[in-house]
Amino acid sequence: MSNNKIAPSLLAADFGNLQRDVEMVNNSEADWHHIDIMDGVFVPNISYGMPVLKSIAQHATKTLDVHLMIVDPDRYIKTFAELGANVLSVHYEACTHLHRTLQAIKAEGMMAGVALNPHTNVNLLEDIINDIDVVCLMSVNPGFGGQSFIENTYNKVKALKELITKNNATTLIEIDGGVTSKNAKALVDAGADVLVAGSFVFKSDNPTDTIKNLKEIIG
Ligand code: DX5
Ligand code: ZN
Repeated sequence: MSNNKIAPSLLAADFGNLQRDVEMVNNSEADWHHIDIMDGVFVPNISYGMPVLKSIAQHATKTLDVHLMIVDPDRYIKTFAELGANVLSVHYEACTHLHRTLQAIKAEGMMAGVALNPHTNVNLLEDIINDIDVVCLMSVNPGFGGQSFIENTYNKVKALKELITKNNATTLIEIDGGVTSKNAKALVDAGADVLVAGSFVFKSDNPTDTIKNLKEIIG
């Protein structure tokens, strides 16, 4: 059985029926719950914060993969650990002392993730690749769901996979933004391990079947 993962992004869920949508993910073949936290400063949008994450965590049964799109994320590492985050990703572009931030995330017992904007070169991670559990490659500009996939992502996945292999690292590669059944296979073939999918799952007629279908595609 393959280890490739699907992480539905709750950003595209129906917030009036959040428990229902979290339980749909629980009962599906999905692997992780992807949670997008936006502050309106690092990205031009505000999503939801701690009280909503607390409610999600009360119902979620799978790995909570929290993607922070906020400035100065160090302020909230402990809070997100207490809220039940299992993977905590910060943006490369939002951290002055990224190595220190990653150690702080791990010290709270979470997997440490680094998200890269589409313009950020993967080779900037070379000196710390062995300290990173998950690299989240943004395949859209962060801030909104439902955007089109940026094709250059394939080149970035391949370059990152080479970097990981060269350094004997165990880092997972996650792709976030514009993932559909059309690009899923090519992404895992290029080296991706985790595919985030928001709109493609939640805006489909049958989200459970859509997740099952994505899992079949990525093998
Ligand atoms: C965008 C978020 C994504 C978003 C993906 O800033 O990080 O996780 O929910 O949504 P789709 O799959 O609709 O592009
Ligand atoms: Zn995300």
